Amino acid sequence: MPATITSIAHYLPPDIYTNDYFATYLETNNEWIMDRTGIAERRFAKEGGTSDLIVPAAKECIEKRGLALSDIDCVIVATVTPDHMFPSTAALVQHKLGLPKAWGFDISAACSGFLFAIVTACKLVEAGGAKRVLLCGADKMSSILNFNDRSQAILFGDGAGVCLIEMSNDDSLGLVDQVLQIDGYGGKYLNQVAGGSMNPASHETVDKKQHYIFQDGQPVFRAAVKGMADVSAEIMERNNLKSDDVAWLVPHQANLRIIAASANRMGLGMDKVMVNINKYGNTTAGTIPICLSEWYQNGKIKKGDNLVLSSFGAGFTWGAALLKWNMND
Ligand code: COA
Repeated sequence: MPATITSIAHYLPPDIYTNDYFATYLETNNEWIMDRTGIAERRFAKEGGTSDLIVPAAKECIEKRGLALSDIDCVIVATVTPDHMFPSTAALVQHKLGLPKAWGFDISAACSGFLFAIVTACKLVEAGGAKRVLLCGADKMSSILNFNDRSQAILFGDGAGVCLIEMSNDDSLGLVDQVLQIDGYGGKYLNQVAGGSMNPASHETVDKKQHYIFQDGQPVFRAAVKGMADVSAEIMERNNLKSDDVAWLVPHQANLRIIAASANRMGLGMDKVMVNINKYGNTTAGTIPICLSEWYQNGKIKKGDNLVLSSFGAGFTWGAALLKWNMND
């Protein structure tokens, strides 16, 4: 019996920043940003940490399922912007929610964080290591963004998606298959240089702005187009899925052109692709669960639907998963 999502919710901070906001102080404009990325606006949280993005979504998610706080026995947080290097953001979420019986941990896989975490959570539940996992994908990207670098400031946003993972009540529904990959050769193209054990924080690292995102956009773009399309096609092939069999592609939202390339490789029209990058930008570990939550809330995912989750991110990390949806309308 597979494990599956049994409840889902998301949270986005209220403050919206349009492309025009950046055009007021950077050499950029709405047309360039829309054309090259598909992003029109994003949300930035004014205060708090990533755990504060997670908590409202987590409360809603648990409430919708009608569970007591003591029913949650594990918290997994996928993030690259933890509140602190330690303790884990999972521990802070446990404490803020007051979950009396949970253990848990963080997963660091950048934009593939939620994908790697949902596979981890499902396998944990299937193996009997936990009964109900509160699975959170969230990032406060504004905390590591260089707002004076036009090539990165415009790309990212803050947000959280949270779901519950439990055993499925139907053998045929839930997480069916996954293809996951990691290759550290890509580390040099997208990273945060300082703040870890290799380059601990110092005056010098701060002066050099090494606590912000570093990204060499073009190699990341090229690797993402190939990586995401390859695994999306592979998961279809492995499961004998034709394009008509796929209800939705649920891609990581980094760039509309990367998303379109994956859809094209899968033979899917854009009407079968979840896209909200225009509204929220790249919320890193948040993008896939926020999409799932929004689409489910709007009645656009039906029980039995084949969903292909697909992502690419820093590491490099990438992968795809086949999820047969198991929640009623
Ligand atoms: N506004 C206007 N011009 C900009 C700009 C902005 N916000 N950002 C960069 N430019 C300029 C560059 O300086 C460059 O100018 P030059 O030709 O005078 O040097 C020009 O636009 C082209 O830059 P380039 O980096 O080649 O553009 P691009 O088409 O590759 O788009 C990204 C840049 C970042 C949008 C794109 O590379 C990308 O999406 N990469 C992947 C990012 C990603 O997915 N990261 C998350 C993890 S998966």
